[in-house]
Amino acid sequence: MSTQKSAKITFSDGTPAMDLPIHQGTMGPDVIDIRKIYGATGKFTFDPGFLSTASCESKITYIDGDKGELLYRGYPIEQLAVHCDYLETCYLLLNGELPTQDQRTDFEQRVMRHTMVHEQMNRFFTGFRRDAHPMAVLVGCVGALSAFYHDSLDIQNPEHRFISAIRLLAKMPTLVAMAYKYHVGQPFMYPQNNLSYSANFMRMVFGTPCEEYQVNDVLVRALDRIMILHADHEQNASTSTVRLAGSSGANPFACIAAGIATLWGPAHGGANEACLFMLDDIQRQGGIEKIGNFISKVKDKDSGVKLMGFGHRVYKNYDPRAKLMRETCYEVLDELGLHDDPLFKLAMKLEQIALEDDYFVQRKLYPNVDYYSGIVQRALGFPTEMFTCVFALARTVGWIAQWGEMIAEPDQKIGRPRQLFTGSTPREVKPIAQR
Ligand code: CMC
Repeated sequence: MSTQKSAKITFSDGTPAMDLPIHQGTMGPDVIDIRKIYGATGKFTFDPGFLSTASCESKITYIDGDKGELLYRGYPIEQLAVHCDYLETCYLLLNGELPTQDQRTDFEQRVMRHTMVHEQMNRFFTGFRRDAHPMAVLVGCVGALSAFYHDSLDIQNPEHRFISAIRLLAKMPTLVAMAYKYHVGQPFMYPQNNLSYSANFMRMVFGTPCEEYQVNDVLVRALDRIMILHADHEQNASTSTVRLAGSSGANPFACIAAGIATLWGPAHGGANEACLFMLDDIQRQGGIEKIGNFISKVKDKDSGVKLMGFGHRVYKNYDPRAKLMRETCYEVLDELGLHDDPLFKLAMKLEQIALEDDYFVQRKLYPNVDYYSGIVQRALGFPTEMFTCVFALARTVGWIAQWGEMIAEPDQKIGRPRQLFTGSTPREVKPIAQR
């Protein structure tokens, strides 16, 4: 980062003006460094929701929301989605460069050798109700990994951090598949390490011990693409949560569990599930004929209804991931002969109507990746409740890469936001009889 410019901040209450350094990254908006404001003026800055605040410096992922651009370590998502697979993308996010063939082979072997989870983990799953939401189960079970890998882990040691990353990448597919199997009452499937990362995951989810699982390359490639597109997204809510949790020096597996909890919400990763529920709901009420009614509800601010899978805090032109996911959607539906699926037809009609409607045009609301990823996942056979778990599986690498970057910073500090207090001024506690 370079710092050649500065900003002058002046006050109307007599506080002396101060100069603030302006940092320039390699791309993106300049950043006004406000760290010294409180010390110099006794004032905080106020930015709930981080609308104008860069919470960290990072070299991993870059988004230009106006251009609809997403780069992992400088590489456009469109190229990665076509030329690389998920594990190569993971290597890139973690190490900063794409792997050579030898590095790729070594990385894959390291990941695939760690896919089994401790047999005791089975007991954690069986403690949950069968009808528990798989995301609830995942939050618990990934958090529980910290109990298995704590004493042997020194987060200040780069090799230990790398081993944690490998363990997480390796064990997440197994845990997500176990959450699914437990939910549907089928036996857990052990990983099969000679399969590719995504094929192994699909086998653990959809295979049973009774018959040989037939890998379908088109469907595996579609899943792999979902994973690449969701692998990282700079400082979103769940990643910021992982960084904040990690800033206290907490166990990385526990930090990832915190990220999973944040991802679960419908405004974030839960949108793919919410989007499918929305489509199901419109379908039940009459399908395509009822889209008009639904859009009217969305426009009525009092209804609290949103068009799920539309809109994004950063992308105000289009979401590049959505474009790729839309292509994958067509490929998968072609492969499975599902083009006449009523829900898919409804989704495409709703998309078309919304894209032509002034309400959405004026607010720059476009489909985001979750509008299509739910449809693809449904076609692959995942039940709706599993959609966000698949997102969590894919995002794990982003979380752990961002966590590692933060821990490696020489002047890393615990995250500690301040507040604008509007509650009661000091008052006396009265004995209970006088209250
Ligand atoms: N449906 C209807 N209106 C919307 C929608 C939507 N999906 N999204 C935003 N708006 C309206 C919003 O009501 C506001 O209108 P007005 O200016 O009249 O008050 C305007 O558009 C600006 O929206 P905002 O709420 O200020 O935007 P935000 O940046 O705070 O929220 C968002 C971004 C993603 C939370 C929001 O667009 C949303 O809730 N979308 C639906 C959920 C969704 O699909 N989330 C997945 C995001 S992509 C996956 C990920 O990376 O997590």
